[in-house]
Amino acid sequence: MQKNKILLKKDIKEKRELVNIEIDRFLPRKDEYPKLIHKAIRHTLFAGGKRLRPYLLINTYLLFDNKLKDVLIIAAAIEMLHTYTLIHDDLPEIDNDEYRRGRKTCHVVYGSSIALLAGDALLVYAFELMAESELDESLKKKLIKELAQEAGYTGLIAGQMIDIESESKKVSAKTLEYIHKNKTGRLIKLPIRFACYLADVPGKKRENLELFGEKLGLAFQIVDDILDIEGNEQTLGKSIGKDNKVHKATFPSVYGLEKSKAMAEKLIKEAKSLLEPYKEKAYLLNMLADFILTRKY
Ligand code: IPE
Ligand code: IPE
Ligand code: MG
Ligand code: MG
Ligand code: MG
Repeated sequence: MQKNKILLKKDIKEKRELVNIEIDRFLPRKDEYPKLIHKAIRHTLFAGGKRLRPYLLINTYLLFDNKLKDVLIIAAAIEMLHTYTLIHDDLPEIDNDEYRRGRKTCHVVYGSSIALLAGDALLVYAFELMAESELDESLKKKLIKELAQEAGYTGLIAGQMIDIESESKKVSAKTLEYIHKNKTGRLIKLPIRFACYLADVPGKKRENLELFGEKLGLAFQIVDDILDIEGNEQTLGKSIGKDNKVHKATFPSVYGLEKSKAMAEKLIKEAKSLLEPYKEKAYLLNMLADFILTRKY
């Protein structure tokens, strides 16, 4: 078990490096005019996120193929878009959080107006990167369109919208699931689907892997809710106790802590069973699924 953890940690670190190099390669230098926006972007982008979404893209792809050339630019784009969601999510107008990725949030350091622009820039940049990739034109168009759909008002933004709207309200199990599947699940399932497109994985296999992603995504946000109660700020790199304070619709607030843990556990077990056809090849993804359940950050 311990050996597995070390192996996963090492692999996450290696892939994170690859993605960071790719992101850095495309970003303007921090002293480029207008300086402050580039500093603000890099402040949150290079604060040390887990790079989970790129990891899922890369490791799903590696189940089928090992030519990572075109994959890394897509991984970088997804991470940029994810980082925009964090910067905006933390703004005083949304979750009003002061810590992120172990640092003061972008708006605390640079002010809300610049944080807003940094988020905007990252969102737009994600699409520019995708457009700059050397993928086949029709595949590229498909990825750009689907990224827009998953991140837009039919996906992540819809989830964030209902998340905000549900503060201090009693929500149904259905609404709660809607929030989590959209605000977080979408961007976890997406890299898995993109990996399948990039590796040309046929329909049925892709659907199974997408289901793996869906279960992983929901479990991920349930654990995020749990960590907001039981986590350690230092280790987590973000503030805790906020969900309860503003009466967010979370799994623990609806089901209680123990039931929420059991639900996350069940989802991870189901997710892992979908990897069975890949046997040994999927050992890193299997370990990642366990990490998502037991993670402390
Ligand atoms: C945080 O995502 C936001 C949620 C969807 C819960 P991560 O926990 O993946 O954040 P980073 O990228 O590691 O900072
Ligand atoms: C975040 O959900 C979802 C997005 C950023 C899209 P949370 O608001 O629970 O994430 P944290 O806890 O601030 O990371
Ligand atoms: Mg939020
Ligand atoms: Mg938040
Ligand atoms: Mg949270």
